[in-house]
Amino acid sequence: MTDKDNSHPNQPEAPIGKTAEESAVIMTHQVLPSDANPAGNVHGGVILKHIDTAAGVVAMRHVRGWAVTASIDRMDFLKPVYVGELVTLKASLNMVGRTSMEVGVRVEAENLLTGEVRHTNSAYLTFVALDGLGQPRPAPPLIIQGEVAERRNRQALRRRELRRQAIAEERAGDTTRI
Ligand SMILES: CC(C)(COP(=O)(O)OP(=O)(O)OC[C@H]1O[C@@H](n2cnc3c(N)ncnc32)[C@H](O)[C@@H]1OP(=O)(O)O)[C@@H](O)C(=O)NCCC(=O)NCCS
Repeated sequence: MTDKDNSHPNQPEAPIGKTAEESAVIMTHQVLPSDANPAGNVHGGVILKHIDTAAGVVAMRHVRGWAVTASIDRMDFLKPVYVGELVTLKASLNMVGRTSMEVGVRVEAENLLTGEVRHTNSAYLTFVALDGLGQPRPAPPLIIQGEVAERRNRQALRRRELRRQAIAEERAGDTTRI
């Protein structure tokens, strides 16, 4: 049987591996006054929404189906972004588990008048592929090609382990959270 035969929609449980390049996206948005505070700094939540959207596109492209955000790792706002600037989000898959996927997103802001480009954020999000009933379903494996993909995958596996530990500790009875 060829790969093509295997991709028939009636055979969803035998997903074919894909590279990160196949689902990677670059998305751009110009910051509008409604996205910012009175001083002209874009709201963190606006950036976060763009990050979530870009990462969601990557996850859906990889699974060619629905995928939801399960978690967003700690995020730091390294540099401010101002009204009128162009925000570019570069998003791609770092790791695929059984049903979950880690997407890395790099955010840059460009001053359109001067051409200056600043790295403003990096974020790691976990998405889970869902079937038609809203239940987790297997995602196609990630084909890891090249040194960059190997490094990203190695680091993503470490982050997944840390996330799992944090979730387990929380479930084991951390009552300090509201
Ligand atoms: C995400 C969700 C589907 C996971 O459901 P669940 O019953 O916990 O599923 P499972 O325990 O079978 O875990 C499924 C996968 O998700 C991963 N996962 C679950 N919770 C996670 C979390 N908080 N962070 C990272 N990964 C998580 C598991 O490790 C597992 O990965 P694997 O299959 O690759 O090994 C469920 O929690 C959910 O629907 N959450 C709401 C999603 C949402 O509304 N997002 C915002 C809008 S898109």
